[in-house]
Amino acid sequence: NGGADPVARDADRPAGDSELRSARWYQAGGLRSFSHRARTRQLGFLPEEHMGKPVIAVLNTWSDINPCHQHLRERAEAVKRGVWQAGGFPLEFPVSTLSETFQKPTPMLYRNLLAMETEELLRSYPVDGAVLLGGCDKTTPALLMGAASVDLPAVFVPAGPMLRGHWRGETLGSGTDMWKYWDEKRAGRIGDRELAELEGGLARSPGTCMTMGTASTMTSAAEVLGVTMPGAAAIPAVDSAHSRMAAAAGLRIVSLVRSGARLSRFLTREAYEDAITTVLALGGSTNAVIHLIAMAGRSGLPLSLDDFDRIAREVPVLADVRPGGRYLMEDFYYAGGLPGLLARLGENHLHLDRPTIAHDSLREQLAGALVHDDEVIRTPDNPVATGGGLAVLRGNLAPDGALIKHISAEPHLLRHTGPAVVFDDYRSMQRTINDPALGITADSVLVLRGSGPLGGPGMPEYGMLPIPDYLLKQGVTDMVRLSDARMSGTSYGACVLHIAPESHVGGPLALVRTGDAITLDVEARTLRLDVSEEELARRRAAWQPPPARYGRGYGALYQEHITQADTGCDFTFLSRPGDVPEPYAG
Ligand code: FES
Ligand code: MG
Repeated sequence: NGGADPVARDADRPAGDSELRSARWYQAGGLRSFSHRARTRQLGFLPEEHMGKPVIAVLNTWSDINPCHQHLRERAEAVKRGVWQAGGFPLEFPVSTLSETFQKPTPMLYRNLLAMETEELLRSYPVDGAVLLGGCDKTTPALLMGAASVDLPAVFVPAGPMLRGHWRGETLGSGTDMWKYWDEKRAGRIGDRELAELEGGLARSPGTCMTMGTASTMTSAAEVLGVTMPGAAAIPAVDSAHSRMAAAAGLRIVSLVRSGARLSRFLTREAYEDAITTVLALGGSTNAVIHLIAMAGRSGLPLSLDDFDRIAREVPVLADVRPGGRYLMEDFYYAGGLPGLLARLGENHLHLDRPTIAHDSLREQLAGALVHDDEVIRTPDNPVATGGGLAVLRGNLAPDGALIKHISAEPHLLRHTGPAVVFDDYRSMQRTINDPALGITADSVLVLRGSGPLGGPGMPEYGMLPIPDYLLKQGVTDMVRLSDARMSGTSYGACVLHIAPESHVGGPLALVRTGDAITLDVEARTLRLDVSEEELARRRAAWQPPPARYGRGYGALYQEHITQADTGCDFTFLSRPGDVPEPYAG
């Protein structure tokens, strides 16, 4: 009986802040506003609880199938607690969960779908600000891309890394040690019993991968962009500090709405440059290159591979975290976390005078940040590596660029010429890689194509091609590998990735034949196919584009609009500039 509710005011009289975006729904007057108020009563809320208060959408990527986000169901409650206490009105929205470990062919196929969902939900509902809960690889860029496109006030809440893994007294890193011990098993050095124990020890708590994989790389990028609470990215998912951070994000978003601080205030060119710097200083995932280019595109800021290469030459790797280093995210947190690392980068490398959601400047945010363990977060004069962890390669095999994370490769391979062994797709590579008849030696250059944005599709993380069993047994631990694929942030090795354009659209990678000589020279930043122009022209003339894979559905939308790796793999119609009208709310 609605009549039992207190009558707060004349139904159409503006209450609280009528400047709010949500007031267009609730206070515009007329039938629609009457209906919105009636339906909010249907949700069980009194007018006093919400009228005139900032409506905060809590976008939650929680799902039963996403182990990295298991705890986000509870964390959303902490966010809401903060929102209520600050005088806002929180409403939780479940959004697509992109679970790196389960989704086929790869969640990268769906990053832009979550970005679209984020954008359109925020646009179409009475929302004044958003708190975005994510962390498993693609969820961070997706949520921020969508939110940047709507440009409302927003705070990102990183899911946080899982606790360290353990096995027989050893510390295990998810991803990284999975690859390592799978190779041990293939080499016959461990058996089924060890493998079963490892299954129980690799990932032992809720949270994202606790190596410096794509998840921690991207949540750290979000933190330095200034759109998380300070220090948020490294807090272990199950630490009580994580709940407090979530509540703080809820408190914060309400004041951001009240002060009108939209995301674009923070997502500036300088902020994106600092994100590149930070990703490099962390020895972070190569996936960050694609994601940051796509995110900056949504902010209307062109970012290119050359920005990464330029900044990479200047930035020391300070985080001694696997796979490039020794420790894990939990150690990184205890050592001072991202604030400690950023303080060490300081004004030599960062733009400290730009605002963050929590402070007037990054400088102010980092004041008093300490490092408690110089082994985990190194000093600039004792870095894990000088000159950044990443190099952008170009040459006749990668006219639009390719990447190598050279700090995780064996140094003797960084300048290497060898004969190509070509695989047209991942399946045939899996089937044949261990066949000694292919004549693969430690000097061979393994080439995988058909694995790019369209060819994969979704650029699966196939880039760390397996070393043939018989070579592993001989003690070969790294080889030069080339592909148009991505590589997991937890992978390692002399793997040249993101070759653009990809083979599927006729990039030169499509023209390589087994036996061709290929030269990688990281110092010179080149990747060369040693085949004459005339011969390449003959091969190009004979090349047939593969048939379109999808006849309908999301896949068809994807294949018609996806861009190449060097421009961020966004959809053309999402990344281009252009106006989108606010929905008519009358
Ligand atoms: Fe989710 Fe690694 S699988 S972060
Ligand atoms: Mg990953």
